[in-house]
Amino acid sequence: MVYGMKKCALRSCRPFRDPAVLTGGGIVISGAHKKTHHSQGLLYWDLLMAIGVTASLVSFGLHIGIPHRATGIELALDLLFSALFLADTALLKKNRPHIEQGTLGTLLGIVPAFPFALALYFAGATTGAPFLLLLVRFGKIPSLFRRFRERHDDFLLPGWVTLALSLLIIAAAFHTLACFWLFFSPFENETPLTSYNMALYWTITTVATIGYGDITPKTNEARLYTMLVMFLGVAFYSLIIGQVSRLMTQSDHRKAAVQDKLDVMSALFRHYSIPPDLQQSVLKFYSHLLSSTLNENEEKILAELPPALQSEIRVYMNVTLIARVSLFKSVSRDCLLEAAQGLEQFLFNPGQSIIRKGDQGEEMFLLSHGTVRVHIGDNHLAMLESGSFFGEMALIENDVRTADVTAVGYCVVYRLSKSKFIELTGRHADLKKAVDDMVKTRQM
Ligand code: CMP
Repeated sequence: MVYGMKKCALRSCRPFRDPAVLTGGGIVISGAHKKTHHSQGLLYWDLLMAIGVTASLVSFGLHIGIPHRATGIELALDLLFSALFLADTALLKKNRPHIEQGTLGTLLGIVPAFPFALALYFAGATTGAPFLLLLVRFGKIPSLFRRFRERHDDFLLPGWVTLALSLLIIAAAFHTLACFWLFFSPFENETPLTSYNMALYWTITTVATIGYGDITPKTNEARLYTMLVMFLGVAFYSLIIGQVSRLMTQSDHRKAAVQDKLDVMSALFRHYSIPPDLQQSVLKFYSHLLSSTLNENEEKILAELPPALQSEIRVYMNVTLIARVSLFKSVSRDCLLEAAQGLEQFLFNPGQSIIRKGDQGEEMFLLSHGTVRVHIGDNHLAMLESGSFFGEMALIENDVRTADVTAVGYCVVYRLSKSKFIELTGRHADLKKAVDDMVKTRQM
């Protein structure tokens, strides 16, 4: 039982109760319930496939820009990625058949697995058109695109993956542009390493449209190529600057809304001569609440959605919040999604009792904001800060509460029911281990 528990007025996070699968415009929207194939291992595997495709592009560029017979490392990598691509097609067939569908999909999966670099090596090729064969590995791109798109649509693509993929694409593009420069305008009497270095330098100065003029095109083909690269550079920068300013305007809009509210609050403090200490703690709490909840406009837009869709969105909002709680930091995304469906948000006032020793435990809590004190009567045991959890022992031992827990300041907590907790720890070994580890340290 929980004493005086009050649902947070600013944002009541209803638990996800409606398992309905909604269909909108032919798209099945069931993000929170869909048993997705989005495990962390598969994500790394997909990234490895993306690296494999990029490696072929790198190898292609090197052969175009610097004629040479493939080295042992190039051949070993070619063989390795051939084997991995083959394994990938088999894996997809078994676990994610929708990724490489139909005859074309199967062909685009299998043909790129052929070890082209090895074949070209035995054919004695060093540069030129035969190496276009290496680009057959690009057949994997539609399937890669579908995998990352699927995760992105389900809000399950971590930011670092988007960043890593963008960097991979940018690096591969710079490399290819540099290699084509070497093809059109090779440097005389330079080692391959210096040539490549100079070509990369030319590419970056040309894409940046700085063009120091120390490396200049000498032939018509090279001049045409230089103009093309400059044009690409301008387009690239406009795109990046456009995206950055869009993001900045978006974040400013939200910050400004929060700042407006805090200004009103400050005026109120001045009017009623509220003591500075109290002002500080109220502002800290209020700014946390404002930044972690929706503003009125967002709340209004959300309210216009059908209830089941609203619930789905709130599940994902809960995911973002509980991912910061220590217990959930190392668990899988599937586990986070399931946990988020069973959460309810509550607000406790300073000094309010959350758990009393000896009571039956019907739930555990995740502390999203504030500090709680764990004690047995006057005997102080611990202070828990935001990001901690408590109330798990009675659930694990199936016994009564081992201690009292009292809110020190204003606290925002998420309640997870006993049945949901048992279901989650039974299904997710990583969560069970995180709970067990913490309980061990608390029992010491
Ligand atoms: P439970 O026994 O269900 O209810 C009281 C909670 O206080 C308990 O679960 C733990 O989550 C927490 N708790 C008990 N002892 C400690 C401790 N020594 N340090 C931190 N937290 C504790």
